[in-house]
Amino acid sequence: MKKMLVTGAVGQIGSELTSALRQRHGDENVVATDIRMPTDVELRDSGPFEFLDVLDPHHITRVMQMHEIDTVYHLAAVLSATGESRPNIAWQINMNGLYNMLEAARQYKCALFFPSSIGAFGPSTPKDNTPQDTIMRPDTIYGVTKVAGELICNYYHKRFGLDARGVRFPGLISYVTEPGGGTTDYAVEIFHEAIKHGSYSCYLRDDCSLDMMYMPDAIHAMINLMEADASKLIHRNSFNITAMNFTPAILAEEIKKHIPEFTIEYNVDPVRQEIADSWPNYMDDSAARAEWGWKPKYDLAAMTTDMLEKLTVAIEGGETSTAKSRKDR
Ligand code: SER
Repeated sequence: MKKMLVTGAVGQIGSELTSALRQRHGDENVVATDIRMPTDVELRDSGPFEFLDVLDPHHITRVMQMHEIDTVYHLAAVLSATGESRPNIAWQINMNGLYNMLEAARQYKCALFFPSSIGAFGPSTPKDNTPQDTIMRPDTIYGVTKVAGELICNYYHKRFGLDARGVRFPGLISYVTEPGGGTTDYAVEIFHEAIKHGSYSCYLRDDCSLDMMYMPDAIHAMINLMEADASKLIHRNSFNITAMNFTPAILAEEIKKHIPEFTIEYNVDPVRQEIADSWPNYMDDSAARAEWGWKPKYDLAAMTTDMLEKLTVAIEGGETSTAKSRKDR
């Protein structure tokens, strides 16, 4: 029986991944960890929870030994916009935290999942159909830590045989736990504001195209990649994956099909706009499709319909918890 550990389990991805892994492998076999206490009772009480600071290597090894962990999903990280306001913290958590997890994974012979990002690309990267293997010279601290993270994960695989795998996530859209401090967060905020107020003030330009993905596809991607036949993987860290790409104007039009009175205005934040402008318009994810069968289920229309339906129920019921996502799966 596999025993898994999720860092950053209270965050946007971690809360839903923990729930999905517990359903798949049994509640007691998935240890959720974070530096924050989960406010969601279900996440906290449905299986083991440990306070774990990824900057504390001794505590990491103690928790891994105690729970006999063999697979780590290392999600604890600082996102792009927060990184620009606190580069020192971003480096410490994203780099030193990853290093500590890799060392612990090496010691206890664990597999490790690492989430890279579209943020690993930079202004000199080809913007359209961005290839799997291409120029990677990001100019954000977040991007620097993601490229370095990809490289050190590959290094641990080559040098120590550690089974490290990862994907480059696009912006992730979800209704359970809100993201925080990212550049792509507008694509979640817009749904909350559309439902609550019928209008949204967007901090990115109307024509700013970015890759995006609905959370159920992101969860499947992580689990499928970690379960993929290793002999088929030519790449490891990290695979381009995407499900849709759109601009704020296109997303607003899609929302209007459901909420005709919805309006959007633009109040561009130069910091986040500059970050977004340095990222691809859309990526080529054919390597992931060929090597481990990546195939998203949700396109823009399907995501928008589901997101509005689920988020409306969650907001009306005052419920935006993991409990909700568990009921719906
Ligand atoms: N969603 C992340 C961010 O906006 C990018 O991977 O920072």
